[in-house]
Amino acid sequence: MSTKQFDVVVIGAGPGGYIAAIRAAQLGFSVACVDEWSNAKGGAAPGGTCTNVGCIPSKALLQSSEHFEHAGHSFAEHGIDVAGLKLNLGQMLKRKDTVVKQNNDGILYLFKKNKIAFFHGRAAFAAAAAGAYEISVTGEANETLSAKHVVIATGSNARELPGAPFDEKLILSNTGALAIDAVPAKLGVIGAGVIGLEMGSVWRRLGSDVTVLEGLPVFLGAVDEQIAKEASKLFTKQGLKINLGCKIGAITPGKKDVTVEFVDAKGEAQKAVFDKLIISIGRTPNTNGLGADKVGLQLDERGFIAVDGDCKTNLPNVWAVGDVVRGPMLAHKAEEEGVAVAERIAGQHGHTNFNTIPWVIYTSPEIAWVGKTEQTLKAEGIAYKAGTFPFMANGRARALGDTSGMVKFLADATTDEILGVHIVGPMASELISEAVVAMEFKASAEDIARICHAHPSLSEATKEAALAVDKRTLNF
Ligand code: FAD
Ligand code: NAI
Repeated sequence: MSTKQFDVVVIGAGPGGYIAAIRAAQLGFSVACVDEWSNAKGGAAPGGTCTNVGCIPSKALLQSSEHFEHAGHSFAEHGIDVAGLKLNLGQMLKRKDTVVKQNNDGILYLFKKNKIAFFHGRAAFAAAAAGAYEISVTGEANETLSAKHVVIATGSNARELPGAPFDEKLILSNTGALAIDAVPAKLGVIGAGVIGLEMGSVWRRLGSDVTVLEGLPVFLGAVDEQIAKEASKLFTKQGLKINLGCKIGAITPGKKDVTVEFVDAKGEAQKAVFDKLIISIGRTPNTNGLGADKVGLQLDERGFIAVDGDCKTNLPNVWAVGDVVRGPMLAHKAEEEGVAVAERIAGQHGHTNFNTIPWVIYTSPEIAWVGKTEQTLKAEGIAYKAGTFPFMANGRARALGDTSGMVKFLADATTDEILGVHIVGPMASELISEAVVAMEFKASAEDIARICHAHPSLSEATKEAALAVDKRTLNF
């Protein structure tokens, strides 16, 4: 078998890898991308965790379950009577699978459009010699590839709790949590992080009694405290039972249910029985079978591929991006790093600004933020001014019937530069973009306050929160 030569080989076709491949191809390189993910029929399913068992299917189910909840609870208020409402979970899951497949197919189309050679199989470093790396591919494709530059974008896997391996029947990772075929009467979730809250919301809306067990004594510690407190209040009102400060003990699967022993925040021993248990306690970098040893690729003490600020590994012309390296495990962070690396390979100056990466939790209401929280500013001794505006006072939110939450601005006390924006409320995922743009351009709160925002729109709450920094809201 002859070796196929490329300028760049990308390992992994998640958001980090496929975007790096496209940008490298745009810059004129010959590019191969290798990914091992298979669909139910064994065919290639590029897109990684994000497309197959992450961002996309979770948002599809969040949307469907929100429609179901609205039909059952808020349509009547709008004068819409829905008689005989009933859940067709099979159809809901089928739609989610269709959305996933549309994204898989979209990426295969983009590979073709950009003349990227795609190989479905597992890639591993086979050798390094004479300024090039040999990569073996095994699976549907069996090939040896050679390239001067290699971009590793192999992503992450769900972290297991010791003694409770995922069986995806009773003890579920994100993969199983997105494919439960009957609504569990009692659902347990360990970890009140992003996945726990999003998946807990999906199944609660569809009828599960959801109990979340969180190890830390604070709720959403990385989120601005005022916003996290508001969100906690809203989720509890919706029926999510969130228990903080739990120390998880034995987890014992039975035939049809699973028992979790834990010590609660008061130090009392508890036992809970669930029909299904989702464990969402973070993710670990995926370097399995990559042949890192073979070429001397260095990992850090936590198993991530060690990289510098430019995503360079210890090996010349080997780069790594996305979940497999330090930094937030977010699809858009992986994409930005993928673009920056392709541009650096081309001798350009690609850049990822970690200070303006937005975070979104797609609960209802959504939580979104960028920049520093109030507690961080206090801890760092930075003098700031804060302004908030509640959606209750926003006309569009009232028309939507979705008035919970607020927008919060934090600005430098002296220069008025925006240091952080935090939102809990309707469409926070979209509203946060204005704040990201403003912060990238080093705008002041006054800049936003003086920009004309369409009426009636949720974005007026952003303008009003900026006005609130100077204590001059107009509608509150
Ligand atoms: P991945 O997407 O994990 O892709 C890695 C790819 O590499 C995989 O296809 C894998 O099969 C392949 N691979 C690994 N090793 C090899 C090998 N040796 N040979 C060949 N192929 C290999 N982030 C957001 O920003 N927004 C969200 O809404 C969001 N929702 C999420 C919901 C859930 C339930 C989960 C689990 C995650 C979510 N994330 C979200 C996080 C997001 O999915 C990740 O940050 C993102 O997928 C990371 O991209 P990546 O390219 O680094 O890795
Ligand atoms: P997470 O880091 O968001 O949350 C994990 C939670 O589990 C934390 O609150 C942590 O304190 C808790 N925990 C850890 N060990 C525990 C233990 N032994 N017992 C009880 N609680 C414990 O991780 P999660 O939810 O698994 O998601 C992984 C990553 O995937 C996220 O950090 C995020 O980067 C990404 N993601 C992003 C989404 C988005 O952008 N909307 C959606 C889903 C996931």
